[in-house]
Amino acid sequence: TAPTSSPAKRVLLASPRGYCAGVDRAVVTVEKALEQYGPPVYVRKQIVHNKHVVATLESRGAIFVEETDEVPEGEIVVFSAHGVSPAVHEQAARRQLQVIDATCPLVTKVHKEARRFAAEDYDILLIGHRGHEEVEGTHGEAPEAIQLINDASDVDAVTVRDPEKVIWLSQTTLSVDETLGTVDLLRKRFPLMTSPPSDDICYATQNRQEVVKQIAADCDLVIVVGSTNSSNSVRLVEVALGAGADTAYLVDDAGEIDEAWLDGVHTVGVTSGASVPDDLVEGVLAHLQERGFPPAEEFTAATETLTFSLPKELRRPAASTR
Ligand code: F3S
Repeated sequence: TAPTSSPAKRVLLASPRGYCAGVDRAVVTVEKALEQYGPPVYVRKQIVHNKHVVATLESRGAIFVEETDEVPEGEIVVFSAHGVSPAVHEQAARRQLQVIDATCPLVTKVHKEARRFAAEDYDILLIGHRGHEEVEGTHGEAPEAIQLINDASDVDAVTVRDPEKVIWLSQTTLSVDETLGTVDLLRKRFPLMTSPPSDDICYATQNRQEVVKQIAADCDLVIVVGSTNSSNSVRLVEVALGAGADTAYLVDDAGEIDEAWLDGVHTVGVTSGASVPDDLVEGVLAHLQERGFPPAEEFTAATETLTFSLPKELRRPAASTR
């Protein structure tokens, strides 16, 4: 009998993937600050959650710190895309730091919602990952009014002052489906709960999840490029598995691909988190081609045109005091 030929190999490349408008703005902010003021420029926390981006900026003179008290008085400090609580702004002011705030405007929008609904005496149920920088920043806007819902298991323990004045808000980079599941559980307890005035899970998170959902069922393997501390990247692995991919892995770059993952694999899906430069994805595609996979076919679920202007501190002429 004639040998059965194995199905042709394919690589399905997700679009949109990689940089969102908020990450692009944050990275350019540090680059411009280095250009305008010269190194060193201090950055509180990783500017975006990607180790390659951080290493590249470090090599150009950015110094990453955990807290503002590590920044010498009077120096320039950039706040990361994930946002900070008012307390961090106060600490920076006490040290007379020159702040350049690279908080993504879509995170700032959630901060404003938190302030507004806290001022109107709502109890705010913030769905998000305990310990994530963005959640700490949003929580800090109104700690007395906000309860954190890390996952569905927190729902039963929630108590509110007035069940008619409850709103849920969320971190911007969660799984859309999982979040809606948690909201359903909350609504069973608080039927009059208000929803955020507009989506808190940002367009970039939603689009990257949507395209992965569309390709995952056809994939034996999905490779998500992103760092392990990147919330939206980790969610893409979960979404791929939930939507029918046989396996899915997160890698920082092609060097982390385990040869055994490719054994017997015909169709590979490739995508990347919102903090990932596309040259890392190109590295993965080249790696696959070296192993007999064809050039990638791109699958587009949405077209993104949003861009954000730079922080105001970088839009005026440089006024360095150094
Ligand atoms: Fe902003 Fe969403 Fe990117 S909140 S930083 S646009 S992942």
